[in-house]
Amino acid sequence: EAAEKGGYQHFMLKEMHEQPKAVKDTLSPRIDDENRILLDELRLTGEELNHFNKITIVACGTAMHAGLVGKHAIETFARIPVEVEIASEFRYRDPFVDERTLLIAVSQSGETADTLAALREAKARGAHVLTITNVVGSRISREAHDVFYTWAGPEIAVASTKAYITQVVALYLIGLYLAELKGTMTRQQVGEKVAELKTLPDKIQQILDQQETIQELANKQFNQQSVFFIGRGIDDYTAKEGSLKLKEISYIHSEAIAAGELKHGTIALLEEGTLVVALATQEQLYDKMLSNMKEVKARGAYVVAVTEEPRAAEVALSADVVLTIPDTHNEFTPALAVVPLQLFAYYTAVARGADVDKPKNLAKSVTVE
Ligand code: G6P
Repeated sequence: EAAEKGGYQHFMLKEMHEQPKAVKDTLSPRIDDENRILLDELRLTGEELNHFNKITIVACGTAMHAGLVGKHAIETFARIPVEVEIASEFRYRDPFVDERTLLIAVSQSGETADTLAALREAKARGAHVLTITNVVGSRISREAHDVFYTWAGPEIAVASTKAYITQVVALYLIGLYLAELKGTMTRQQVGEKVAELKTLPDKIQQILDQQETIQELANKQFNQQSVFFIGRGIDDYTAKEGSLKLKEISYIHSEAIAAGELKHGTIALLEEGTLVVALATQEQLYDKMLSNMKEVKARGAYVVAVTEEPRAAEVALSADVVLTIPDTHNEFTPALAVVPLQLFAYYTAVARGADVDKPKNLAKSVTVE
């Protein structure tokens, strides 16, 4: 097993470090030198696409969080309404799914029972089913009409990292592909986005290179009882994923709250020294986030902010610690902002002596409903 870990202390750490390569491997077979997207896995004509009146994404856990980021990307790029459903809830509410629905099932393992059941339900109702999965030949890949494989390589740690990031990238590609097909973006506009996508592996690497700073922070904060993650817009989705990572491996109670909702309840829980992780990457929501950070600080919270480098100095005025990510397009920040949160969860769990790769009560793949 030590050999399989390639010199890393845990699979999770190894897999986080494999993220630049995983993103590159997922992107490169699907884009050419002229930044065009080639999606052999989605053989839709413009006419067929126009036949769909919505997209439904079903998934569980981390894959569901990737789905939320995908919703934002597809709606922004292709202007098609997208709903995201927790797979275990989907079947029990008589969903609005028919032959005009494109259903996307996201599943690292391709074996999650709830996601499979949702896929079957959608198929029975006439939907066209695409899956995004990491495992070739998995059950979900065999039952879907079309399959988009993420090329993250085997993921061993229960807490998903490199698979998540490749799911997010897959959904970016799908969103941009649909946008060009539908005409909501020109080829040139898509090309500009693709050029930026190509920079993500290096940018992820730059964040991984800051791991010691994050380890020091975790070594100071690992005794927290409760941690709150706040953000607005897509930062709220990254907050959800960061919170899940932390709770699943460190066993610290954590919650993600849309920052604007704080004042409707959660703010009552803040005490002197409570850790609040604040995501502030969205240009149009930036001022609102700064005021939320001040609001929690005024109640005694210890604020760790995650923002893009150009804004670090300004954010530092409203936070105790600032973790930076390289600058990127607004839609793509989730692929970067999640990395410091993964590292923070990891080092917190290590500091608490938890079994990082095999957290108690959790399974890598849940094959019962
Ligand atoms: C389990 C794993 C999670 C994962 C979820 C969905 O709960 O512990 O890491 O996100 O299942 O798994 P899937 O294989 O469908 O992505």
